Amino acid sequence: MKSNTLYNNQNHTDEKKMCTTSKEGCIVHVAAESAPFSKRGGLGDVVGSLPIYISEESEMTNVVFTPYYSNMQGNFSIEFSGQFDFNGINYSYKILGANMGNVKYYFVDAEDTYSFDNVYIDGNKPYQTDVGLHYFILGKCIIYFLRELKVKVHSVITHDWHSAGIYPYIKLLEDYQCSRVNSIHIVHNYHHQGELFYDISEYLEDDLAVKILEQYEKIGWCSMNTIAIMEANHIVAVSPSYAKELNEKVAPHAGLEVLDFRKDRVVGILNGIDTKLWNPENDSYIVKPFSYKTIEYKYENKKHILEKLKLMPDMDMPLLAYMCRLTPQKGIDLFVDMKNGISIDIYERMERLLSKGATLVICGVPADGLNGSINNQLCKLQDKFKSNFRYISFYTEEIAHQLFAGSDIFLQPSRFEPCGLTQMYAMNYGSIPIVTPVGGLKDTVLDISLDSEKGNGFYMSEFSFEALETAIDRAVNIYRNKEMWNKLILRCMIKDFSWQKSIKSYIKLIDSCS
Ligand code: GLC
Repeated sequence: MKSNTLYNNQNHTDEKKMCTTSKEGCIVHVAAESAPFSKRGGLGDVVGSLPIYISEESEMTNVVFTPYYSNMQGNFSIEFSGQFDFNGINYSYKILGANMGNVKYYFVDAEDTYSFDNVYIDGNKPYQTDVGLHYFILGKCIIYFLRELKVKVHSVITHDWHSAGIYPYIKLLEDYQCSRVNSIHIVHNYHHQGELFYDISEYLEDDLAVKILEQYEKIGWCSMNTIAIMEANHIVAVSPSYAKELNEKVAPHAGLEVLDFRKDRVVGILNGIDTKLWNPENDSYIVKPFSYKTIEYKYENKKHILEKLKLMPDMDMPLLAYMCRLTPQKGIDLFVDMKNGISIDIYERMERLLSKGATLVICGVPADGLNGSINNQLCKLQDKFKSNFRYISFYTEEIAHQLFAGSDIFLQPSRFEPCGLTQMYAMNYGSIPIVTPVGGLKDTVLDISLDSEKGNGFYMSEFSFEALETAIDRAVNIYRNKEMWNKLILRCMIKDFSWQKSIKSYIKLIDSCS
């Protein structure tokens, strides 16, 4: 840590007179997950890279807080033990720490109050009282720790609803350090809210309860997410198109009305990717590194993954990959029957896809777990279509890198997509995306039929199996023309998906605290 900016050693009474903001102080990120310590999806990737790039560009110290999870991998040292009060009760907490590059990571362990076994408490479920408490306690604990450390905070950046519990307590920090704290709430996925029931207020400290009741009065409901939206100085959606979809209320989420109160505060900033980590030229997970100058080496990676997964070793057949959390958001219900009233014949659908002369790999953790129906149906499909369909029910970094490197076409038929990172990883590795043109997918992929010079992928005309099929048909036809296909690969591989441009927009927000 750069101690000159992080610690505020001055006398607090003297400082009281000058409640101003300056570039002094550090940037505190709060999130539920962070790569590489507790990644579950794109949120973890962004929290694992954005602070590094902000810190490089701004030269401000970035500190990341996540809960401590009992299944976290790594040797972490206990950096601090302390106590704090919540609703009149005294709790103990420990802070564990790790350094990664120029960023300091803190993991908050408050065992008496909560213990997280896994990264997520499901934000989809009707929100339970005690679950809401966890994240408020996390927020308050972080503020207490920052005060103990005499850390001066310039900005707080919260990532999705889990981190919103810090907002009610930012004032405590401001009073203590006698300067304003800028705040930015990043909406990675508005679908997850962390809804707070009306009666949660009975279990909370008075000020907090009042805040929640006020929101109920004003907008008819309240969630961790709406608390952050009402309180933060700036609200960032992770792509310009998603910001527009949220503001225009076309994104398929509940509770968008709250944004009407903060419309002028919502901006869209496209996520970048960690181009050092996702670089096919220098990737220890893949058998043959390659670049846009050596596209032919990509085929060795294809051969390797086909062999590894015991698929037909036919190099002329395009290899399609679909890799994500297997949820309806990502369109898993195009392949399996979600029993949502529309019954589909999964065998007939898979037959139709594979009859295009393609091989398909579906990889990811099923939303309803390994005992659930998604897993069950995909296993059955694999039994029936052994030679050219493979299902991998888990995610590892190794398999992800190898699939991007080995696949020809990457499927991302999302219902909605705040940003999406995998289409960018895929393009970096020369795997051509098929996407629904929504949110960040629209901002990063351009259909080749719309611009034959700049096009770098294929759009589905709507979210449906038929549209996916048509897009695959179009892609497979072009795949058969090697010259055209290689041009497409080249165009994808040279496109800049780094954080470079977006970081500048973040720095502007960090600098403006109004
Ligand atoms: C969430 C969104 C995804 C986004 C990621 C990182 O996982 O669903 O679209 O890319 O967060 O912001």
